[in-house]
Amino acid sequence: MKSVLVFSICIMFASLASVNAEECLDYGVEARWSYILEGQPGFVHCPLKVDPLSYNVTWSENGSTVHVTAERQSRIYRDGSMLRFVPARLGDSGYYSCVVWNSTGCFKRRVKVIVFKNHEGLCYNTTARFSSIESAKADVKVVCADLTDYVDGNTEQIQWYKECEPVKFGSSKFVAVGINLIIHNVTKADAGNYTCELPYNYDGKPFNLSRTKEVIVKVIKEQKLPVIIYPKNDSVEAELGSQVNLACNVAYSGKGGNIAFWWSINDMFAEDYDRNRVLTDEPFPTTSEDGTSLITRYLNISEVKKEDYETKFVCNLQTGIGATKYVLLKRPVPNFQGSLIAIFVALALVIVITILTYKLFKIDIVLWHRQNFLYRTSKEDGKIYDAYVMFPKSRNKESVYPTDTFVLKVLPEVLERQCGYKLFIFGRDELPGEAIADVIDETMNQSRRLIIVVTGIQSSDDFFEDAFEQQIALYDALVSNKVKAILIELEKIVDYTNMPESIKYIKQKQGVIKWRGEFTDRSLLPNTRFWKNVRYRMPPAQRFSSRRLDFQVGTFSTPHIIKVT
Ligand SMILES: *[C@@H]1O[C@H](CO)[C@@H](O)[C@H](O)[C@H]1NC(C)=O
Ligand SMILES: *[C@@H]1O[C@H](CO)[C@@H](O)[C@H](O)[C@H]1NC(C)=O
Ligand SMILES: *[C@@H]1O[C@H](CO)[C@@H](O)[C@H](O)[C@H]1NC(C)=O
Ligand SMILES: *[C@@H]1O[C@H](CO)[C@@H](O)[C@H](O)[C@H]1NC(C)=O
Ligand SMILES: *[C@@H]1O[C@H](CO)[C@@H](O)[C@H](O)[C@H]1NC(C)=O
Ligand SMILES: *[C@@H]1O[C@H](CO)[C@@H](O)[C@H](O)[C@H]1NC(C)=O
Repeated sequence: MKSVLVFSICIMFASLASVNAEECLDYGVEARWSYILEGQPGFVHCPLKVDPLSYNVTWSENGSTVHVTAERQSRIYRDGSMLRFVPARLGDSGYYSCVVWNSTGCFKRRVKVIVFKNHEGLCYNTTARFSSIESAKADVKVVCADLTDYVDGNTEQIQWYKECEPVKFGSSKFVAVGINLIIHNVTKADAGNYTCELPYNYDGKPFNLSRTKEVIVKVIKEQKLPVIIYPKNDSVEAELGSQVNLACNVAYSGKGGNIAFWWSINDMFAEDYDRNRVLTDEPFPTTSEDGTSLITRYLNISEVKKEDYETKFVCNLQTGIGATKYVLLKRPVPNFQGSLIAIFVALALVIVITILTYKLFKIDIVLWHRQNFLYRTSKEDGKIYDAYVMFPKSRNKESVYPTDTFVLKVLPEVLERQCGYKLFIFGRDELPGEAIADVIDETMNQSRRLIIVVTGIQSSDDFFEDAFEQQIALYDALVSNKVKAILIELEKIVDYTNMPESIKYIKQKQGVIKWRGEFTDRSLLPNTRFWKNVRYRMPPAQRFSSRRLDFQVGTFSTPHIIKVT
């Protein structure tokens, strides 16, 4: 035992004697670190690539002069120029120096070895991952990396995990081939941390090897050629003398750095057009409302002049297909819309007022019109009377009733004498001895209107002695629609429930004209409301005939009551 130890020490001294670390040329630390999962085997190459036949290689842990043993039974040992951990422990982390030397020279370089644990509950540690960036739609090959020193590429026993869950084969999406996992038609959803694991026997001892690769999927936007989106070969309004800023917007995808575009006016650079008024800006990147990347260049006119209205301001784009788009200035059009609305409102008002006025003064207008323009020279309808007057005549001959006064005195005075109408008043104008029915029938047919005077007390027995006949005639007249009726109400409240149907019908269809007047001088003026109403419903009177009628009517103007039996 003691001799073995002495022997070992001797060997060590011999080595040290031949390699003086101080004399070794130091190449520093290898940039690529070596990660080994705790409990798994890990092999580390000497970062100095030399021919092992012409050099001696030794490994030593940083800060130690002791060489790593070459004994294969050892957990950490050197195999040729390779440092092997079978398996690695967390405490093995650190710097390891690889020294290569021949009889004349010596070189060294250090390697950082990191033995790591997986994250709690995960099958990988994010600091020890490979990674690849893939573009969507492609078929992607995920390689179980860094296995060349351990197995050949044909191993069939690799297990694949995505985010530590076994990859679901079966669909054609995933296919495992050797040490590769093929993902067909990659989408964003396929991005993730893929872990491969395979059993690995070393010198009869079973181990596992696992590697994790983060697959990032990039959806690459289709590259579009830059295009001018403004101006659009249209025009903008600008007042003379005002300031106008015109923007040329070029939409692009990717980097907009080398898009060449500029403003031109009259086939020259805008900068040379009128330096005192027209300025152009350098292009600068902007974004439009829909998120499109734009690059914008301004053309600012400080004061619009007359000649600018005949000038095309052109934006020229050289990149891509090349294009030009222009914008014109135009004088603002006065706002017609406002005045149009005003005109329409005014027209509408005029119409409304006209209609209202007509409604209010319809009667006056019609009467005025009749008086001034319309007169009949001959009565072509062949009728004799302008109106047939019908009223409930009192049976009592002694007392004078308002109805009699109105019909026999007031009506003739106003309509006949003053207005020139010719009336047939039943009870005044029929000839004695005629059959009542014949008189009613004939005269009614020879009349243009039917004036019916009603009063509130006609239910009394004193009245309406001839009501029956009149009613029938009236009814016929209405049904045959030959004669227009004018209903005049003498008393304030007239109860229509006992009235003949035809009178109710007239009241409902045309309304009644109410006599509110006392029998005064004023109520005999044809220009009062009441008489205007009556005259309006009457046919136009014969003009210039009043004088002639005066004579005629004069004989009738004194009311006389003719008794009808
Ligand atoms: C030792 O290595 C150095 C550097 O590669 C080389 O120049 C030299 O010839 C080698 N010496 C021997 C004896 O091989
Ligand atoms: C390696 O070292 C041994 C003993 O220290 C020495 O005999 C041998 O020549 C060396 N080989 C080279 C290539 O320097
Ligand atoms: C992951 O590895 C790093 C070394 O790269 C280590 O510092 C860290 O502690 C590890 N994470 C866990 C959860 O062990
Ligand atoms: C990989 O895992 C880390 C930590 O769990 C996670 O943050 C990351 O998003 C994953 N990578 C992908 C591409 O999903
Ligand atoms: C290798 O991994 C599998 C599955 O993760 C596990 O069942 C097995 O125990 C591991 N083998 C060793 C030697 O750690
Ligand atoms: C042109 O007008 C734009 C927009 O108003 C402004 O941002 C820019 O600074 C102006 N450029 C020059 C040179 O006046």
